[in-house]
Amino acid sequence: MLYLEWNDSFSVKIDSIDKQHQKLVDYINELHNAMLQGKSKQILGEILNKLARYTVEHFTLEEKIMADNNFPELASHKEAHKNFVKKVGEYRQAFEDGKVLMSIEIMNFLKDWLTNHIMGTDQNYSQYLVSRGVK
Ligand code: FEO
Repeated sequence: MLYLEWNDSFSVKIDSIDKQHQKLVDYINELHNAMLQGKSKQILGEILNKLARYTVEHFTLEEKIMADNNFPELASHKEAHKNFVKKVGEYRQAFEDGKVLMSIEIMNFLKDWLTNHIMGTDQNYSQYLVSRGVK
């Protein structure tokens, strides 16, 4: 069974963004599987870095789409992204320094934040952008 399963309630009705969200879900599952299988710190670190890099790539695209369409809640949305990137960065550093281990608490933080964000904050732009023809 997957740790985090994509379902239609995740969809923001914009294909380019849904595809990126699905990829983030895949990375979370990959990290969770690697943790359960007791993979090495190096492997876990590589997956975590991949997830962090892709998150930034996704946020950048999403913010550009919102900016290009004058989405009125862009500033607060960017702030939410920034706070998550900061937290993940702090966690990555602590993991690299050996101060924390990959744990279910960390996995739950990543899963819960992304799930709540995609199903909450991201949904706020859905109708607005769809009505402007964003796909
Ligand atoms: Fe899809 Fe706002 O991140």
